[in-house]
Amino acid sequence: MPDKTKGLDNGLTNYGDRDFARYLRRSFAKSMGYTDKALDRPIVGICTTESGFNNCHRHFPEMLEAVKRGVLAEGGLPVPFPVISLGEVFLSPTSMVYRNLMAMTVEEMIRAQPMDSVVLMGGCDKTVPALLMGAASADKPAVLLVGGPMMTGRHRGERLGACTDCRRFWGNYRAGTVGEEEINQVEGRLAVTSGTCAVMGTASTMALIGETLGMMLPGTAAIPAVHADRLRASEETGTLAVRMAVSGGPTPRQLITRGSAENAIRVLLAVSGSTNAIIHLTAIAGRVGIEIDLEEFNALSDATPVLVDLKPVGTGYMEDFHAAGGLDGVLRGIAGSLRGDCLDVTGQTMSERLARLLTDPIDRAVIRTAEDPVNPVGGLIALHGSLAPQGAILKRAAATPALLEHEGRAVVFSSLEDLGLRIDDPDLDVTADDILVLQNAGPRSASGMPEAGYLPIPKKLARAGVKDMVRISDARMSGTAFGTIVLHVTPEADAGGPLALVRNGDRIRLSASRKSIDLLVPAEELAERQAVTATTGPSPRRGYAKLYRENVLPATLGCDFDFLRDEGAPGMRETPESL
Ligand code: FES
Repeated sequence: MPDKTKGLDNGLTNYGDRDFARYLRRSFAKSMGYTDKALDRPIVGICTTESGFNNCHRHFPEMLEAVKRGVLAEGGLPVPFPVISLGEVFLSPTSMVYRNLMAMTVEEMIRAQPMDSVVLMGGCDKTVPALLMGAASADKPAVLLVGGPMMTGRHRGERLGACTDCRRFWGNYRAGTVGEEEINQVEGRLAVTSGTCAVMGTASTMALIGETLGMMLPGTAAIPAVHADRLRASEETGTLAVRMAVSGGPTPRQLITRGSAENAIRVLLAVSGSTNAIIHLTAIAGRVGIEIDLEEFNALSDATPVLVDLKPVGTGYMEDFHAAGGLDGVLRGIAGSLRGDCLDVTGQTMSERLARLLTDPIDRAVIRTAEDPVNPVGGLIALHGSLAPQGAILKRAAATPALLEHEGRAVVFSSLEDLGLRIDDPDLDVTADDILVLQNAGPRSASGMPEAGYLPIPKKLARAGVKDMVRISDARMSGTAFGTIVLHVTPEADAGGPLALVRNGDRIRLSASRKSIDLLVPAEELAERQAVTATTGPSPRRGYAKLYRENVLPATLGCDFDFLRDEGAPGMRETPESL
């Protein structure tokens, strides 16, 4: 195979003298102690996202050493470089706002720096989408390596995993069934190792999607963070990255196709994954010109069974999923509906991968068969109707079955601040049959589409034993949360959507069977309200907040920036010298 690498000569710095640019670059590289022999190797960039503000990535230094070992063993030169990291719980107002910023840094640093291929190291919720979005736009040979899930903790004889159990215990604390001392004990037992959240939340879902898209070494998405196999996967990823550098591919655009996106949706539905993953997959696909249509999504959902029994919907944790067979077990369960011609980073097709899996044992307590599924239909659906003309999302697998067909009276909160002020007010006019509505928490809002769609049950109802209510918003929901929760309502309130026009006492009807969500208010009345409702909040005057506000797209388009989707145009103009 001809060597397609350019190594250190990739994208020379502009000085008006190409030979001088090369000479200067080698000279400065030698200041780092490299020999000519090392500098003449194919260069594998390693995009790292370790940060003191990212607990999920705290084992990345050890993984990085393993990647470097693999690169060196295969004859490449490993060169780590940083991009911003997004630690889910350490960012304000929400990590979602910064996903596109990270994606921009990933794209531009892959493009601007001299590397023949790149290893993308991520894990925490927004990091994997940002890495894949940036890499798809840069389109150099790229391979994703995730940190893997945490192990579970123990508390009074039961297993605990971030962060479904965080919410369960907090709900019980609010309801008064868990006291101050116990909630403080549990705080130290929810997240006990490095790695991403221990359930089928956004991070785990996105890892599986990354592997299904073909962007990851097969079989590695679900290996626990602290398992020796995680380090072996890291080493093998480094080795593979050298081969990809030498052969010049496959590149993300060769891997992320309509077929692999469809396979990824099938897996998302079969694992009953995070609602956030729809937004992220839409954004990743949008970078290579592929639209995710919500009607097609629903058709796939109705034809794809839920196969895994994991929290937040079921009972197991990611460590059980890995031991049970991991993604391979799921792919086998839905093999008949997968597109077989899609490639992965190793160059094999999905059909070839499936053919190799035929005899591996699967623990059927965790990963079921299509003939004996956890649920005969997929975990997520899109809703449309007068309240969400462009769509909304419901995780039907996480909902209370009795609430899937429900009509109720709206109890409206105009913002997160309003919600915080009034939700626990003893005088709040609310019953268990009402529908809680949160406005102005969408992508364009000042709160930047936080995971606030899991509105708390009003304390007085929680204390009376109410566990779930229909809740509707233009916000997102953590992949680790559960309940009858309608999310991503589009158009959002801040963009003038009907959600902004809902008033206390309005009737709303949710029908999961008809995939509809309707505001039962006459059109004339809504037109009158529209005329007097200020729907657009103030614009920031400077900086990233201004860029974000002016360019963020709706949830149905993945909340990407309008100027970053598709086209494949380079981020910075490449002059002849830098080519
Ligand atoms: Fe990082 Fe959950 S906080 S994956």
